Amino acid sequence: MARGKMGGKSKKIGLAAKVRARLGYIVITLCIGLVCFYIGRVEFLAEKLQEAEKIGRMTSEGVNQQIAMHGYQHQPVVPQPPQVASQARPQAPNNVLNNNLIQQAPQNPPVPVNLQKVHAGIQNLPQDVKARENAHQNTVQNFALGNALEPAAKVMEQVERLVAQEVHDTVGAIENAAGAVNNAVHNVINVGKQIEENINLNFQPEELLPEPQDRPSLDIAALIASANRISVETIFQDQQAELAKYPTSHLKASAFYTYEPAKWNWQSMNFKTRTPNAKFIFHNKLPKSGSSTMNQLLRQLSKKNNFNFAKVEPSQIPNDRFDLEKPLVKFVQETKKEPFFLLKHHFWFNFTRHGLRQPTYVNVIRDPVDWYTSQYYFRRFGWVQQTTTRDSFAGTQADRDRTIDQCIQQGLMECTKPSYKYIQYLCGNHPHCRTVDVSEELKEKAANLAKINVLRNFYAVGILEQFVDTLKTFEIILPNYYSGVLDIWNSSMMQEKRNKTKTLNRKELSSHSREFLMKGPLKWETDLYIFVRALFNERLRRYEIVPTGVQIT
Ligand SMILES: *[C@@H]1O[C@H](CO)[C@@H](O)[C@H](O)[C@H]1NC(C)=O
Ligand SMILES: *[C@@H]1O[C@H](CO)[C@@H](O)[C@H](O)[C@H]1NC(C)=O
Ligand SMILES: *[C@@H]1O[C@H](CO)[C@@H](O)[C@H](O)[C@H]1NC(C)=O
Repeated sequence: MARGKMGGKSKKIGLAAKVRARLGYIVITLCIGLVCFYIGRVEFLAEKLQEAEKIGRMTSEGVNQQIAMHGYQHQPVVPQPPQVASQARPQAPNNVLNNNLIQQAPQNPPVPVNLQKVHAGIQNLPQDVKARENAHQNTVQNFALGNALEPAAKVMEQVERLVAQEVHDTVGAIENAAGAVNNAVHNVINVGKQIEENINLNFQPEELLPEPQDRPSLDIAALIASANRISVETIFQDQQAELAKYPTSHLKASAFYTYEPAKWNWQSMNFKTRTPNAKFIFHNKLPKSGSSTMNQLLRQLSKKNNFNFAKVEPSQIPNDRFDLEKPLVKFVQETKKEPFFLLKHHFWFNFTRHGLRQPTYVNVIRDPVDWYTSQYYFRRFGWVQQTTTRDSFAGTQADRDRTIDQCIQQGLMECTKPSYKYIQYLCGNHPHCRTVDVSEELKEKAANLAKINVLRNFYAVGILEQFVDTLKTFEIILPNYYSGVLDIWNSSMMQEKRNKTKTLNRKELSSHSREFLMKGPLKWETDLYIFVRALFNERLRRYEIVPTGVQIT
């Protein structure tokens, strides 16, 4: 009997092992399939990006004229774009594209382009290359002059934006997935490299500006970064204690911060440095950190103070990605008219390596938990102003309705391992600046590199929670751009606009959730933020700007 039982048991074990093995096999197959799918998708999208750029160039007026001269005519056909989008991702983008097409040209349908004829036409042109170059130049000049793009080019702009968005989404998806998908991440990086390699920057390099001499050396900056240890725990407790004093207010905990100069060591750092490049300012904006407001202000300031201002969306730059350099360098080289202020989401990088003068970098950052909260609900509900066009949320209604508190309670990846990027905007494109799917040690290292970069390579980084102080600082250090900003800020029109860009349906999170995010998933973001906030407040002190302080209303 005993033997029989034993036999039965071992048989069961055998069966279980078989099932496990089979399951393992299925899981591995699925994983491999997934990786291949992603790799395929990424390659496909990279190809589409390049195609989109080419087509964009060909639709420009110059080429059309050349083709017409040589007897080729456009045949009205259904434009390619929707096909690109629907292959890229079957559901949402198709709708988005259609929406955008309808919105862009309701009375004026886009001029369709017969791509084969265009291709053939171009190949037969005797001065093919030259003509294309000229045509491209014309487009660029038209853009620079602010002329409306042709309808066909407009369509291409939409496609480019969508395809770029696809790549971003894919990158996000890949970065969220675990283990095996690592290969695919490398593939994304490789695609990025390929895009970079395929862009020729054949312009005469600009005469470079002298390297700033009044910033801290690398050694001193590293010393400052390591000498100032931050206790996120203490910051959390202090904020909660302050908040508890105003139980009826609707303030966020992050509103409270007391800068105590004695606790910080800035060595002999000079806070009154020269503007590194007075003719080109680049606010490489961190998302969800008041940049719509800054855009409104700069738009008015550019008229008042007579400078060229460009707020650039990824759709305006072929192959744009926040971690690529050449697409943006090319764009800047072709469109920049100094004095120039550029407002664009991008990770920090060194323009000098590509033959352009390094801009003066500025940024504005905000409390990482509030920043995260803002992204979380923005993804679900968009802005007050335009709820429909921004509605690209892919989840179910239950996903949409889930609060951050619930998300944390349920231990979902979106809250326990967020994939939004923060540190890279200040740290830069260096591989050591990557923060998604890296170990805690590497994330700490990235935060440290970001501190060093802020000390050396940012002229100033403002704080959204101290926005008026930030504007006052910018007005002092960049008067040619920011002079008079507080009058504009105070105007009622501005206040009204601000109301409209508040994220819809924002629910504040519990202090427990704040604590969880601050000490866990957003620990190194918070560490960096507090460091930069202290640096900012020391700057206020040096410029004798009295901080506005928390407004209890
Ligand atoms: C940018 O790169 C150039 C060399 O290509 C180098 O001389 C310069 O120090 C770099 N600047 C920064 C801010 O890293
Ligand atoms: C802006 O308004 C505040 C009151 O809301 C006032 O204290 C401040 O002086 C104003 N600043 C300017 C530059 O008008
Ligand atoms: C902005 O919104 C607040 C309430 O959220 C309201 O009290 C205020 O009047 C609004 N301001 C303007 C200028 O619309």
